[in-house]
Amino acid sequence: MNMKNIVAGHIADAARAGFEGCALDAAAVEVMLEIPPEKKLGDYALPCFRLSKTMRKAPQMIAAAIAEKLAAPEIERAEVVGGYLNIFLKRSALAENIVNAVLESEGRWGSSSAGEGKTVCLDYSSINIAKRFHIGHLSTTMIGHSLKRIYDFNGYTTVGINHLGDWGTQFGKMICAYKKWGDRETVEQGGVQAMVDLYVRFHAEAEKDPTLEDEGRAWFKKIEDGDKEALEIFTWFKEVTLKDTQRVYDLLGVSFDSYAGESFYNDKMEPVVQELRDKGLLVPSQGAYVVMLDDYGMPPAIVLRSDGATLYITRDLAAAFYRHNTYHFDKCLYVVAYQQNLHFKQLFKILELMGHDWSKGMEHVSFGMVSYEGRALSTREGYVVYLEDLLNKAVEKAREIIEEKSPNLPNKDEVARQVGVGAVVYFDLHNDRNKDIDFRWERVLNFDGETGPYVQYTHARCCSVLRKAEAYANVEADFATVTDDEAQDVLMLLSRFPEAVRKAMDNNEPSVITRHTTQLAQAYNKYYFEHRIMDESDPAGSAARVKLTQAVRDVIKTGLWLIGVEAPERM
Ligand code: ARG
Repeated sequence: MNMKNIVAGHIADAARAGFEGCALDAAAVEVMLEIPPEKKLGDYALPCFRLSKTMRKAPQMIAAAIAEKLAAPEIERAEVVGGYLNIFLKRSALAENIVNAVLESEGRWGSSSAGEGKTVCLDYSSINIAKRFHIGHLSTTMIGHSLKRIYDFNGYTTVGINHLGDWGTQFGKMICAYKKWGDRETVEQGGVQAMVDLYVRFHAEAEKDPTLEDEGRAWFKKIEDGDKEALEIFTWFKEVTLKDTQRVYDLLGVSFDSYAGESFYNDKMEPVVQELRDKGLLVPSQGAYVVMLDDYGMPPAIVLRSDGATLYITRDLAAAFYRHNTYHFDKCLYVVAYQQNLHFKQLFKILELMGHDWSKGMEHVSFGMVSYEGRALSTREGYVVYLEDLLNKAVEKAREIIEEKSPNLPNKDEVARQVGVGAVVYFDLHNDRNKDIDFRWERVLNFDGETGPYVQYTHARCCSVLRKAEAYANVEADFATVTDDEAQDVLMLLSRFPEAVRKAMDNNEPSVITRHTTQLAQAYNKYYFEHRIMDESDPAGSAARVKLTQAVRDVIKTGLWLIGVEAPERM
């Protein structure tokens, strides 16, 4: 129960008492309740014009009648203004109710059982084998990771899938290059970069000697046919890539339940293609087989090439069936850049045309591009920033700041990692996901702006207060002392945190949580600077302020956790 539920309940009671035959209940009132734009208009407002149709009375009359019957321990008074009923809460009751609710939830404030018995598959990060992890992959990795936690927090069973890009003729070329110019040790030591170098060399040499292309194709055919040597090298390339990437995942604290990628579906596409044929959806076109989508304003989707080869979308079709049959998902989310909008629209439409209702649960969670210090990244122009380098640099910079600000901090390395990585992740999840992001160091690691370090610092500040607050642990708290405007701002943000979590989930938009948590940190800091938390002459008031601090600490920690950012206790 939160304050909104409680107030809604009282209003519904008052409405039924005021109007004979009125069937208004708490749930209906709750969805109508608004938060007024200004404090002087109350803490909640009921727009009564929305009731006037069903109740056949003027909004003002409805508001006045409810106001007359409204009497509850949590409500200070109600005012009728225009068609609104403005509710002013008894501030001490509000404070006590919210703080206790947060503390009783034991770190799970904002969680729910909305997803009980339901499963959501999340396809995120989905890296390509033999390519380096650059900052363009940060968003898919972190939005996916955060959404997984948000769904978990709401009772869903979640399945994190790294749909590896591990199929395509490029792997034949790479094996060809490896056989000609590579050796085991160089690749073992150089990792993905060594493979990239081989690939680049292949293209340079193929300019001079076009027969290399045929050799590359032949090697790919060998992989397809299950040739022992080809498969062995290919599998090893994958292992090397995953080992390299694991370092980044470890830094970020990200993990997956499945690494079933494109090659996993090699033997699972036939039934899908057959079904498309049986349903008359597959039509020949210039030797290839396609699904026509012009009725839906889309170009045809090629499912089989003229040489019989399958494509990216063929594998995604097979993957959709596999996920449906294996996990029985209610939702299947694809966290992939907006450049693939068309691909996913085609994919979902084809499944719909095949008559599979479960495809309604599939959704493309798209996001914008990342640029670096004002410049678009471009592999062709050699302007790339590797994620591992970026994270290491962030940790290094955080370390310098810590050295300067708190030279005596224990475990400085660990905190530097939490702050540096947290700053990058926070920055990535701070704006609406579809907005492009320009990564700038001065904005990422600033301790004062709307940044990860700022929020982490506020959390550490709360922890520091609580370390000194032992003396008030068993004192009965007097919440009449946290009724000032600054405390009220903090309390409202605490009480609305569950709504933020809910909205983040409904819109698949972690940034809602990032921003709400930031606002909470800002409100608490304002409170902290204007009020003394602990005052020996007022133990009961101190106890209330300490409890408020504890609630803030818990919720900031939860907010950060939900976006994949750690919360050190000292900074
Ligand atoms: N590997 C792809 C890329 O980097 C993303 C794969 C997304 N997932 C999917 N099921 N198509 O562009």
